[in-house]
Amino acid sequence: MKTKLFKNAAVVFTILTLAFAVSCSDDDDEMKEDTSLYTRLGGIDAISAVTDQFLANVAADSKINARFEATVANSSRLQLLRNNLIDQICAGSGGPCQYKGKTMAAAHAGMGITQDEFNALVADLVAALEKFSVPAQEKNDLLAILGPMQSDIVGK
Ligand code: HEM
Repeated sequence: MKTKLFKNAAVVFTILTLAFAVSCSDDDDEMKEDTSLYTRLGGIDAISAVTDQFLANVAADSKINARFEATVANSSRLQLLRNNLIDQICAGSGGPCQYKGKTMAAAHAGMGITQDEFNALVADLVAALEKFSVPAQEKNDLLAILGPMQSDIVGK
């Protein structure tokens, strides 16, 4: 009788241990999913540093820098663009910022931006991300957020 009771207790203990292990591994998965792109990118300081490098790359890129001539010549206008880009990346990646700029359609309306120009700007962003050794996963996650904006920017 005692042996049977002991065996039953052992079975219950094994089941509980397994259930606990499974629930723990579930928690691990959820924690990974909960880590926002904003956090994985390194937060606001990392996003600001990448944005500054991105703007420097654009300013040096003869394929598109003429587009930003008037912006670069006016420091408060350049500052506003920088802040809008930082807020846009921060908010889009799940960070605690609010993008207060124009919609992408309104900001680029009438510019007639070509696909080649769009690709050049994305390449300047990728170069900035690579300069700061942002891993492929985070790089692709950020590009996946910006990619859909293409239809509001190119050919308008
Ligand atoms: C995913 C791609 C792009 C993103 C996320 C983006 C983002 C932005 C943002 C946030 C603004 C500021 C909006 C505001 O003032 O409220 C802006 C303005 C502007 N963008 Fe883009 N843009 C993209 C592509 C391009 C391309 C390809 C060009 C040209 C080659 C371009 C040229 C400009 C110009 C000239 C302005 C105005 C800057 C100023 O206010 O002085 N953008 N863009």
